[in-house]
Amino acid sequence: MTEMEGILAMNQAWGLKNMLSALAGLGGGNGDGHQASSLDPPPAPRACRAIAVAGGKGGVGKTTVAVNLAMALAMAGREAMLLDADMGLANVDVLLGLMPNRHIGHLLDGVCGLEELIVQAPHGLKVIPGGSGARRLAQLGNGEHAAVIRAFDELPRPPEFLIVDTAAGLSDNVSMFAAAADDVVLVVCDEPASLTDAYALIKVLSRDFGVRRFRLLANMVRNLGEAQELHRKLARVSDRFLDVVLDFMGMVPQDERLKQAIRRQNAVVDAWPSSRSAQAFKQLAGAVDTWSEPARAGQGHIAFFGGRAAPVAGW
Ligand SMILES: Nc1ncnc2c1ncn2[C@@H]1O[C@H](COP(=O)(O)OP(=O)(O)O)[C@@H](O)[C@H]1O
Ligand SMILES: [Mg+2]
Repeated sequence: MTEMEGILAMNQAWGLKNMLSALAGLGGGNGDGHQASSLDPPPAPRACRAIAVAGGKGGVGKTTVAVNLAMALAMAGREAMLLDADMGLANVDVLLGLMPNRHIGHLLDGVCGLEELIVQAPHGLKVIPGGSGARRLAQLGNGEHAAVIRAFDELPRPPEFLIVDTAAGLSDNVSMFAAAADDVVLVVCDEPASLTDAYALIKVLSRDFGVRRFRLLANMVRNLGEAQELHRKLARVSDRFLDVVLDFMGMVPQDERLKQAIRRQNAVVDAWPSSRSAQAFKQLAGAVDTWSEPARAGQGHIAFFGGRAAPVAGW
């Protein structure tokens, strides 16, 4: 099978047999090839974990996932910060009904430091707005992206978790922010273009930026089986043609409550905590502690909190 045939195969219907074997192969693990046992010591929480939310295609739910994952972590009492790195078309602040008067552009212009950009959202979540409507922000060079990433080293009170919402496409913007993170969450939905765009992003990030591990999150699906099927389709091709690990992170169901929350400019985990999508986000946030230690050292790329050992007290 050629790579192109593999990509096309992702878009073909799967038989029941395939689906059953996918379920058998995936069931219950923590996604790191290790079954948790009651004898295992609990994994130590890692300081300043940066999680990039990417996906390639627009409209698959990257911002929705970034906002709700960050808010679910904050609601669970974790120190969470959310960076809107879809600069120029930033909409995290819109989704959360925030009205920031400064954004990343002010940081780059030297008008203020990163800490002065922080906007307080509900439940202690801190948001760094990306700025909207300024074409310059959407066309930043690598030096400016690097300056934004390095600015996190200077935060006097760094968070336990930094969630980074990225733009659509394969631009340097997306790649640099994803490569600088400890974990890359790939949001996909059940559309052929979503899978092919996600594959293209995995290819660029692995080939050009040394990213080896990805976590697949299926959004807007009907059930777990559908989510696992999406994972299986993508893993089948990436396993064969790319030197990467594609873990199954989980799923977020298609949920009308989530759309209502967006119209209310609130996270669904906050607006309707018992809705199906909110429950899914809470479960995903709870599972972050079971993730393996990130292995980014040696990639030679600039990293979030690369110059920092641990958070200081006083969040
Ligand atoms: N789980 C979901 N259930 C229902 N609608 C969803 C869900 N996730 C996303 N959406 C819809 O998709 C739209 C696009 O989501 P968004 O997070 O802005 O995508 P992206 O950031 O990838 O462009 C949202 O405005 C919402 O209407
Ligand atoms: Mg978005």
